[in-house]
Amino acid sequence: MMLRKRVLVTGGAGFLGSHLCERLLALGHDVLCIDNFFTGTKDNVLALLDDHHFELLRHDVTFPLYVEVDEIYNLACPASPIHYQHDPVQTTKTSVHGAINMLGLAKRVKARIFQASTSEVYGDPHVHPQTEDYRGNVNPIGPRACYDEGKRCAETLFFDYYRQHKLRIKVARIFNTYGPRMHPNDGRVVSNFIVQALKGEPITIFGDGAQTRSFCYVDDLIEGFIRLMATDDEVTGPINLGNPGEFTIRQLAELVIAETGSKSKLVFKPLPQDDPLQRQPNITLAQKHLGWEPKVPLKDGLKRTIAYFDDLLSRMKAG
Ligand SMILES: NC(=O)c1ccc[n+]([C@@H]2O[C@H](COP(=O)([O-])OP(=O)(O)OC[C@H]3O[C@@H](n4cnc5c(N)ncnc54)[C@H](O)[C@@H]3O)[C@@H](O)[C@H]2O)c1
Repeated sequence: MMLRKRVLVTGGAGFLGSHLCERLLALGHDVLCIDNFFTGTKDNVLALLDDHHFELLRHDVTFPLYVEVDEIYNLACPASPIHYQHDPVQTTKTSVHGAINMLGLAKRVKARIFQASTSEVYGDPHVHPQTEDYRGNVNPIGPRACYDEGKRCAETLFFDYYRQHKLRIKVARIFNTYGPRMHPNDGRVVSNFIVQALKGEPITIFGDGAQTRSFCYVDDLIEGFIRLMATDDEVTGPINLGNPGEFTIRQLAELVIAETGSKSKLVFKPLPQDDPLQRQPNITLAQKHLGWEPKVPLKDGLKRTIAYFDDLLSRMKAG
């Protein structure tokens, strides 16, 4: 028999958080979703509000929170450059103070705690594909540093709490993930291309489009979260979660055009500063410890994501 757990999800009204809340409820848990609605919206969790096992609380993780829970998933943090560079000081505070507050809570109530870290901790990597023991190539003073270094410091805090206070930690390094409920205009490549294609606007490629990315469908990623949280205490991570299938940005653009049937043309613009040229996870550890690997092919995931954006854009048009 599965025990009903009380699970806290920070950043639960965001893209990944809302899918995680949904999944945890489906597994029969009580979910407390907290969010300051900086990039997340109530709309993302609207369908969950009628479920009496779901609670939504407006709260900023840079302030302490005292609640009784069994597990904490710490996802709160703006994740796209447009959003995290909007107020970089707040971004670092969210990662660092947020981690301190959530780790403090986990210590107090003896909860397991999961950290949504990122492939950005590898910066512009010299090792390809990236394994967890690669220490990264990050610019500590560049415009992306608030996010990259904030997340690196959060990992440091997780491992110090683990060593110093014997906390049960689970650190996931998440690679590019896409799916329904991504923001329509946050500058992330999948949402950008889909929205531009659906509107028949030119598709903007930064650089020559030969830079590669890996794209994980959200359902696959959330399965990885759940499996990681369920591992024995000695499995702490960091553990890469992402799809190792590598595509060039140009291939992605062409696939989006094909799947939307759009007449959009490709336009090329200069690469932003510190934009990594290659990013691909090595998921050997996830396969070994979680028996996990992504299942949804890019084409299928894109179809579902395109359907979501098509509906969203029609609703926005209708006012
Ligand atoms: N989506 C990806 O591809 C990806 C890749 C790597 C890491 N991640 C990490 O996963 C997590 C979720 O990312 P996402 O893609 O769902 O982004 P998102 O922007 O949709 O979600 C982040 C959520 O955190 C909330 N938030 C931000 N600052 C907060 C604060 N101070 N207090 C409380 N809530 C706050 C936002 O309102 C939002 O709901 C982030 O920590 C991100 O760094 C995501």
